[in-house]
Amino acid sequence: MKTQVAIVGSGPSGLLLGHLLRAAGIDCVIVERQGRAHVESRIRAGVLETVTTDLMHRLGISARMDAEGLIEDGFNLADGERLIRIDIKALTGRHVMVYGQTELTRDLIAAAPERGLKILFEAKDVALHGVDGDRPAVSCEIDGESLDIEADFIAGCDGFHGPSRKVIVAAGHAREYEREYPFGWLGILADVPPCHPELIYSNDPCGFALASMRSATRSRYYIQVSLTEKVEDWPEDRLWDELARRFDPISQHGVARGPALEMSIAPLRSYVFETMRHGRLFLAGDAAHIVPPTGAKGLNLAASDVAYLADALIAHYRSADDRLLTLYEARALARIWKAERFSWYLTKLMHRFPGEGAFEHRMQTAELDYVAGSQAMQKAIAENYVGLPL
Ligand code: APR
Ligand code: PHB
Repeated sequence: MKTQVAIVGSGPSGLLLGHLLRAAGIDCVIVERQGRAHVESRIRAGVLETVTTDLMHRLGISARMDAEGLIEDGFNLADGERLIRIDIKALTGRHVMVYGQTELTRDLIAAAPERGLKILFEAKDVALHGVDGDRPAVSCEIDGESLDIEADFIAGCDGFHGPSRKVIVAAGHAREYEREYPFGWLGILADVPPCHPELIYSNDPCGFALASMRSATRSRYYIQVSLTEKVEDWPEDRLWDELARRFDPISQHGVARGPALEMSIAPLRSYVFETMRHGRLFLAGDAAHIVPPTGAKGLNLAASDVAYLADALIAHYRSADDRLLTLYEARALARIWKAERFSWYLTKLMHRFPGEGAFEHRMQTAELDYVAGSQAMQKAIAENYVGLPL
């Protein structure tokens, strides 16, 4: 098989890139290790910046998002009984949208056939070849048949564990930066109305907690847990009790309980792999960087990477102009590092770090006091939360 751009991975990065290229008449194929049902059922974050909603509008795949997404004009930081509202609309003139990554992924997959975007699911043994040369290729096995896809370029959109970044590491070109956090988030999704109309990020004496939502009838909550804890340590009632203790005093409606649709624990990590281009291979999204979920930047960074990469590939094919391809890494990294900084800042501000004592906690309280009383601080937080411009 021959194509112009071979895309590895059908998460949000690969799907958005594939659609943007198809909309410009560029031929591409997505190769995905998992089956469609698996990809469509993964539960991830759910706050979209305008960068992401703009891409969905540009693609004309926004009908369901526009109808079902919730516009959020503010969010809250809490410690103890205090709720500090960050009025993002008044401070920035903008908003964010609550719409699950799962839904966005489904919309992009559903629109693929009518737009000529080929997605090859359940591809085994995906490997990249010849990225240093003129004719790179992706090989894999589908339904027992081996397949070679020759391309002009390969886009590595295969997430943190995929093979694309490893090709660059093996070539000896890794520039990487990492910070792991000594805790994880335990999440629960349930069909109950949210406890509050806007998100609440809470720094509680027992650790961080987040009250989020997917819709007016579906809630998403998280609490900070140690790295040794397991989902089995948290029977649903124990988690609901803990959430009620934290959010009943500060939320508008109190925590409503219901059977869990999903519960899982995710570790927190900050990671940047700066070598986002090697020869004819370009990395985008989680393949190149991870943010801790505090601030919900993961999906939105994937969207900005892909916006830069699509424009660069379109300029290559339309006008034989490779300047944007040369600039891709620098443009993407400029935005990535700022989002890394904000996610790290909010993580440090809102979590209890094991081993850190009363002084560090006083520093958090002093910072939150400052945020509560300073419009300048609130504006800085708000403009990062809605997303820095491309
Ligand atoms: N071959 C083909 N596909 C692969 C391989 C492989 N060897 N390994 C991984 N993949 C696929 C995964 O199955 C997944 O569908 O690559 C995709 C990567 O998707 P994501 O992990 O969602 O990463 P990305 O598209 O960059 O999206 C970033 O999504 O994962 C969240 O928190 C993340 O919000 C962020 C956003
Ligand atoms: C979520 O709803 O899953 C969510 C929201 C905000 C975050 C992280 C996760 O910062």
